[in-house]
This record gives sequence, structure tokens and C-alpha cells, in this order.
Amino acid sequence: MPADHAAIPSAVADPAADAAAVAPRGAADLIDGTAIAAGVRGQVAGDVAELRERGLVPGLTVVLVGDDPASALYVGAKEKASRAAGMASETVRLPAGTSQAQLLALVEQLNVDERVHGILVQMPLPPQIDPDTVIRHIRPDKDVDGFHPVNVGKLLIGHTDGFVPCTPLGVQRMLAHHGVTVRGADCVIVGRSTIVGKPMAALMLAADATVTACHSRTRDLASHTRRADILIVAAGRARMITADMVKPGAVVIDVGMNRVAHAGAKSGTRLAGDVDFDAVRAVASLITPVPGGVGPMTIAMLLTNTVRAARRISGQTGIA
Ligand code: GUN
Repeated sequence: MPADHAAIPSAVADPAADAAAVAPRGAADLIDGTAIAAGVRGQVAGDVAELRERGLVPGLTVVLVGDDPASALYVGAKEKASRAAGMASETVRLPAGTSQAQLLALVEQLNVDERVHGILVQMPLPPQIDPDTVIRHIRPDKDVDGFHPVNVGKLLIGHTDGFVPCTPLGVQRMLAHHGVTVRGADCVIVGRSTIVGKPMAALMLAADATVTACHSRTRDLASHTRRADILIVAAGRARMITADMVKPGAVVIDVGMNRVAHAGAKSGTRLAGDVDFDAVRAVASLITPVPGGVGPMTIAMLLTNTVRAARRISGQTGIA
């Protein structure tokens, strides 16, 4: 660990800055996703209360097909958070044997239901159902996941009236919360998934970063990551980003959620990110922990997207 690598408080290194005065030498400041998400949720609850006074109750319906335990947990958390914000929240639970036609019929029903402003079909779906077909059937203006090709296209061409997927939106919110300079920054994204990597790249490009998208076929990954002012990792490989792959003073965002063996835990496992947290924290200026980093932001941004959907569908865009 290079002990003389002082943390730098901005994504773009300022050689004149007395960095050590901002973050203790050898330990990046934490980006507390739990706290930032709580702030967003509070804001959403206030917006919902205001909309309710005007007779509009934002409605979110989540559809869960099958009984994948991780999905059931996520869906339960989404329902709880949307209820806590004052929304009309419903979860439709369908058996694992549900046919694609049955699911599409439900989506059509939700598309025309005036009480439903946001529709989210939890992924993954059982093998007999094609996820792309389902996503294409959701009304784009109710697609609070931001997965519909219309919303994906809008993000890419810079139209701001679409929906952006919740995890990249949450990352952007975290960077803004900490005043990280994105314009002109070298932003390296590791992972090219449809849910995180690709929309993240589009968002950062739209915010004037110089974006490098790395993936499993990238040659000499470290040569790219070491150039990053902002390093965003969403590759799904536990602790793959080591300290020697990170530029001193970089802002490091870890989207990874991996179960790894941990002898001390009751379950025998613990959650680990894609970043070797303890070692990288000594090099970076700002870093997200796992858990308690990006994870809580995803649900908070789902609530934000749902309020936006309710306003737009009801025509109350003037109070957005
Ligand atoms: N499964 C894991 N993450 C997500 C998400 O953000 N949206 C949906 N629909 N399914 C998921």
C-alpha cells in the first residue's frame, strides 16, 4: 500500500489541494448509501404527501414470478419502502409455472389500470418466459425500471423525459451528493450489463465524463482502471479490484453484491463487493462500502421514478 498516496477530495485531482486535511491519510471517506437513500426517501415521502393532497396517490405494482429467495427479499423491501413513502403499493406473486401469455396478460391489465403508475417485473424470470418480450410489453411511461427499449434509447440520445435504471441513477445521485466533479473526469466502468454497466456509461457520458467501458474481454484491465478519476465496478466478481488497480485519490463506486464464505458468520457467508475494500480504501479519496453503499440507493431511486411516473401520467408535470 503506497503510504504516501494522499486522498484527493475531488474526482479530478487538484495538485494544490491539501488532501490530507480532508480525508485521513490512507483512508478514503465513506459514501454512506444508507444515509443518502434515507434522505431521498424522506424527500419522496414529502412529494407523495403533497400529491395525495391534490388527489393523486402514486401507485407501484411489483410482479414476482416464482419463489427465488433473493428476489422475494428484494420485492419485499420494495413493497415496504413504497408503502413507507405513502404510495399505493402492491405485489403480485405468481407461481413459478406461470406461462409467458399469462404474465403478458397481467402486464396489459396493469398498463391500463389508472391507479398503477409504475410497473416492475422482478428479474430473473423462469426459463419459459422471455424477459425482453415482457419488458417490451410494459408501457414505457410506466417502466420505472428504465428497461424498455424506448427508455434505453432516450437515455442514449439524451432525451430527459424517459426513465433511467435505478442503480445507475443511484450512483449518479451519490456522486452529486458528495460534489464529485464528473465533467471532464476520466470515468472507467467495469461491467457492461444492461441493468448497470451500459446505462451507467450513458449517464456519465451525458454528464460530460470521458467514459471507458471495460468488460470480461478487456485486455490489461488494470491499465484502464488506474487511469480512472471515477471507477465504477459492476462486474459480479468478489474483490476483483485490488489497490494496485486504483489511482490515488480516485472515487470508487462498488456495485458488486457477492456472497463469499466467511467462517465468522452464522450463515457461513457474508456479502462482499467487487472491490477489495480495506486495501482500496487506503488509496481512494471516496469509496462506497458493501453493504450500505449502492444497494440502498436502488430502491430509493425506484421510488423517485414512481413519483415521476405518477406526475407525468396524471399531467401534473408542473410540480415535478
Ligand atoms: N433484479 C435485480 N435487480 C433488478 C432490478 O433493478 N429490476 C428488476 N425488475 N429486477 C431486478
